[in-house]
Parts: sequence; structure tokens; C-alpha cells
Amino acid sequence: MKKVPQPKPLLALPDKTGQDAELCELKRKVEHYQELMNFSESIFVPSSYEDLEKRIKSKTKKLVQCEHVFVYRYSEIDKALYRGDSINIVRANSPIIPVDQESIEGSCAYHGALLHIVDAKSDIRFKRSRYTGNIDCRNMLLVPLFSQGSVAGIIQAINSKTPTFTDEDIYLLKVLSNQLASVMENHGLFEKVHNQFFQICYALSEAIIKKDTYTGGHTKRVTVFSEMIAKELPLTFQEMRDLKLAAVLHDIGKIGIEDRILKKQFRLNQEEFEIMKQHPRLGGEILGHVKGLDSIVEGVMYHHERPDGKGYPYGIKEDKIPMIAQIISVADSFDAMISNRPYRRGLPPMEAYQEIIAHAGTQFVASVVDGFERAFKKSHMYQSGQQKRYKQAA
Ligand SMILES: [Fe+2]
Repeated sequence: MKKVPQPKPLLALPDKTGQDAELCELKRKVEHYQELMNFSESIFVPSSYEDLEKRIKSKTKKLVQCEHVFVYRYSEIDKALYRGDSINIVRANSPIIPVDQESIEGSCAYHGALLHIVDAKSDIRFKRSRYTGNIDCRNMLLVPLFSQGSVAGIIQAINSKTPTFTDEDIYLLKVLSNQLASVMENHGLFEKVHNQFFQICYALSEAIIKKDTYTGGHTKRVTVFSEMIAKELPLTFQEMRDLKLAAVLHDIGKIGIEDRILKKQFRLNQEEFEIMKQHPRLGGEILGHVKGLDSIVEGVMYHHERPDGKGYPYGIKEDKIPMIAQIISVADSFDAMISNRPYRRGLPPMEAYQEIIAHAGTQFVASVVDGFERAFKKSHMYQSGQQKRYKQAA
């Protein structure tokens, strides 16, 4: 393994000779510090792992002046390195790199030491195991990411834009890796806790909805349809995340509805329907006790409101209905229309789709219906509906 050169001090003051050059150098270093500060700020913004990785790569490329950057995470279970988000989900798209001395990447994690490869092609490990795809690798810089004293991953910079990586590049990548390790670890823990919370909410909602006359799967379908619509609309990562949870919990208030109404096998009479109409308000009250769920509570409370003000239980109009609630309203109504109930058969998806379109601006917010239309046309429901129409016409 190569000996790691010690970096030069970054803020050496200029002497009287060659002062201009020293000042330029100082200015450049200040810019590096600014980049490092920007990097720190950008990686703490809440985002998906995919977004986080994109930001890490672009910032690192700029800071270290290289052509390519890879970030690998270490799996304790598999004793291997992977790229991307959850090891289980993205495994198929990522090389699996054993942590041993066979490859350059594996060696970095194995020794928990920085590697500066000046000539990649002459390195026996590179010849043995190439995990960099078709990239024409000239040189590399690899730094382990430590978390609680253990290697949690590595960051790899490939092909310096200058002839080779400098001492300063090494220093910068080491500083950056210190920040990265803890952010990635926190991100992983947060995702794990969030997923567990989501699964609990999902199980709870399905248990409640199964008391209703739906045949099951309603919660899942409303969540999937909501996500499909939202992808067509300009939502932030945080709004998408809130939407998903609100969709899972949208009917949680039914827990407060009497079984004689919830389990009724026939259409509800007026008095029963008036009671049922209170489930969004009850849901809001239940979730209102949990801190930090404000936008999720709004999604639950207003998912039966309409832009024309004829919704329930509050009767608020278009501009007052939060976007998350507007999306759930369309997804929920679509699923209600295509689902079988004891007293009627569900509509074919194409007919339900046309019903949604027909009620844009009155029952559903028009911009959300536009998103729904785009999402539906991309789905298998639309494709198979079109095929049926074609066969019937023939
Ligand atoms: Fe509902």
C-alpha cells in the first residue's frame, strides 16, 4: 500500500517575495473552504439517498477536480461494498465488492486506509477486479468512511483533471469523508426508523379498513395511486414523503365509527352517512396528538373536501384544500370506484378514469386531475383498457 503523503498546511501566509502568487493561492484555498462549507450544508438537506448521493458526487467532483466519483456503503451482513440506496433494493444494479485485497476498492475498506493509485492500469488489483465499468481509469483516490471506529463505506475519486491527485486533494477528500460518514449513517438510521413507522401505520390502517366493506388492499392502492399522481406534480421530497404517510393513514378516523355502520353490507342511510362523514375529522383528532405530523394531519382531515365546497366534513373550497389532501381525494375516489362492494360491482378502470376527468374542477382539483390523467396513461390499466376497446371495435 502506498504511503500517504502529509498535506501541506492550507493557510500558509504569504511572504514578501512572490506575494501575488501566494495571494492567488490563498484565494483558491478560501474558495475550497467555501466549497466545503457548501458541501456540509447541502448534505444535511432532507432528501432520498439517491439525491444525497448525487449531491455528494457533484460537490466532490468540483472540490477535488476529478472526472468520476463513486460512493460505496459497507454491508456487515455480506462483508461487501455496494453502491446506491438500500442494499437489498439496489443490489441488482450495483457491483458486489468483497472487502478483501483482491480489488482496489475492497483493499481500501479492508485496510481502512487511504489509497492513492497513481497509475491504475499498472495496479494488479485493478487488472484483477474492475468495478468502474467502461471508465478509462488513469488514477484514483480512495478514502474510507469511518463510523464509530469501523469502516462504513468508501468514497472513490477517479481521474484527476490535473496530471495527478495532489496533497491538497488528499486533504480535502479526507475532510469531506469525515462529514460524509456520519451523514450517511444518520441517513440510514433515519430511513430505518421511518420505514418501521410506515409499516406500523400501514398494518394499523389495513386492520381498520378490513372492518369496512372493502375487500382489502385499499390502503395500499390509495398509497400507490397517490404516488403515481404526485410524480406528475411538482412536489418536494418532503411533500412526497408526507403524502405517502397521509395516504396510508387517510381513513384512520374510521376507528371511531361504530361497527354497525362500518360493517354494514348495504348502502348507508342518511343518518348513518352523516356519522360516517365525520371520519376525516376523527382522524385529524387522533393524529393531532402526535407532534410533527401537521401536513399529514391536513391530508387526513381534508381528503373528502371538494373544490366546489360540496365536500365533507368542513366544506372548504379549492384554494383552502392542501395539495396532499387533493391528491388523496382523487386516488381514494378512483379506488372506491374500481373496488367491488357487497351492494355493487366496481367499475372498469377506464370508466373510473373518465369519471375522474369528468369531475375536474368540481369534485376534484383540475391540476391534480391533469396529473392523474398523465399518470393513468402511463399505467397498465390504460394500456389494457385501450386493447379491450380495440378488440371490441374490431
Ligand atoms: Fe375516507
